[in-house]
Amino acid sequence: MAEVKKKRDGFGSKLGIIAAAAGSAIGLGNIYRFPCEVGENGGAAFLLFYLIVVNLLGIPVMLSELVIGRRSQSNSVGAFHKLAPNTKWPIVGYIGVLCGFLIFAFYSTVSGWTLEYIVKSVTNSFHGKDLATIESEFAAFHDMGWRNVMWQGIFIFLTGFVVFRGVQNGIEKTAKVLMPLLLGILIILGIRSMTLPGAKEGLSFLFRPDFSKITGKVMVEALGQGFFSLSLGMGVLITYGSYVKKEDNLTSTAFSVVIADTAIAILAGLVIFPAAFSFGVKPEAGMGLVFNTLPMLFNQITGGYWFCLIFFVLLAIAALTSTISLLEVLVAYLSEEMLLKRTWATVIACAGTMLLGVFASLSLMSETPFALAGHTVFDMMDFLSSNILLPIGGVLIVIFVGWRLGKQKFFEEVTNEGALKAPLKRIIFFIIRYLAPVAIAIVFISGLIK
Ligand code: TRP
Repeated sequence: MAEVKKKRDGFGSKLGIIAAAAGSAIGLGNIYRFPCEVGENGGAAFLLFYLIVVNLLGIPVMLSELVIGRRSQSNSVGAFHKLAPNTKWPIVGYIGVLCGFLIFAFYSTVSGWTLEYIVKSVTNSFHGKDLATIESEFAAFHDMGWRNVMWQGIFIFLTGFVVFRGVQNGIEKTAKVLMPLLLGILIILGIRSMTLPGAKEGLSFLFRPDFSKITGKVMVEALGQGFFSLSLGMGVLITYGSYVKKEDNLTSTAFSVVIADTAIAILAGLVIFPAAFSFGVKPEAGMGLVFNTLPMLFNQITGGYWFCLIFFVLLAIAALTSTISLLEVLVAYLSEEMLLKRTWATVIACAGTMLLGVFASLSLMSETPFALAGHTVFDMMDFLSSNILLPIGGVLIVIFVGWRLGKQKFFEEVTNEGALKAPLKRIIFFIIRYLAPVAIAIVFISGLIK
C-alpha cells in the first residue's frame, strides 16, 4: 500500500462518504437538468434508457472510481501515477481536471440563478403573476448578462470558501443536513403537483414510453445525463474515495448514492411534469421548464411563499454541495501534484473557472456574441463535458480497473482485504471488465454518428 507522507484530510464518520458523494451527485443535475433532458428527449422513453444506464453502468463505474481513489490515497491525476507508474494512464486524470473546469464554469451560471431566485422569493415577486409574466421576467433576467455574472461570481466564491476550509468541516456537515430536507420538500411539492387539474398528462409523458422515440441521440443524452447526475467520469469519486476510511464499505456506498440520486431525479420529474402540463408549459421548454413552472406551482399552494423560499434555498445548497465536489477535484490536483498551498490552489481554480464561466453566462443573452450557429457557449461546454468527456473518462476508468488493476486488487479493495463479503463483487467486476466498456463505447459512438 502506498505510504501517506503528510496526513491527508478525510471524512469523519461512516455516513460521511455517503453524505459527501450523494451531496456531489444530487444537485442541479437532478432538479434542473434531468427534467430538461426528459422533456427534450420525448419523456418516458428517455427515462427508461436513463434508468438502465444508471443501474447497469452507474454502480460499476462509481465503484471503480472509489476503488482507484481509496487504494491510491491520491488525487485524480496522482492516483494513476501511483497505481500505474510510468504509463500514460494519468491522462485520464488530466481529462477529468479539464472537464472539471468546464462543468464548474457552466454549472455555476445556473447555480447563480438560484441566488437570484432566493431574492425573488424573499420579495414575494411571483405572487399573483400569470405564466406569461413569469416567463418574460425569466427571459429579461438572462438579458441582464452582468447580473448573471455577479451571482455566478458570488456562487464560485462561496464554493471556494467551503473548499478552503477543508473536507470534513465543509462538505460532510452541509450534505448531511440537507438531503433529508430536500427529499421532504420534493415529496410535498410532488403531491400538490399531481393533484392539479390536467396533471395526468404529465404523468403519462413521464411514464408511458413511446419506443419509436429511442434514437441514437436519446441514448447518448441519457448516457451523458447518467454520468452527469452521478458525478462520474471525471474523478470526483476518485478524489472523495481517497478520503474514505479503510473500514468503510465501498459497494454499499455506491448503491446508496445511486438510489438516492435516482429517487431525487424521479421526484423532481413528478413535481415538474404534472405541473408543467397543467399550466401549459411545453415539456421541451428547456431552462424555463423548471424556473417558470415552479413559481407557478408555488402560487397554487397554501403557504406558497415559504415553500418557494425554502425550495430555492435548498436548491442553492444542493448546487453548492455539487460545486464543492467539482472544485475539490481541481484543488486536490493543484495542491498535491503542482505542490501549491491549498489556499492558492483554491484561488487559482476559482479564478480559472470564473474566466471561463463569464462566457457561459453571457452566452445566454438574446443578442449574445458567444454563440455559433444557434449553439451557445453554455450549450457547447455542457455538450463537450457531459456527452463527450465524461463517457470517455468513464470508459477509461473501467478499462483501467478491469484490465490494469485487475480482479485481485479490486476484490481486496471492495472486501476491505477480506473483512467484508461483498457478495456482488464477481458480477460487478464482470460488468467493469467486459460489459461497461463495450456498452459505453457503443452508445457513445452510435450517438456521434447519429
Ligand atoms: N452531479 C451533479 C448534479 O447532478 C453535478 C456534478 C458535480 C458533476 N460534480 C460532478 C457532474 C462531476 C459531472 C462530474 O448536479
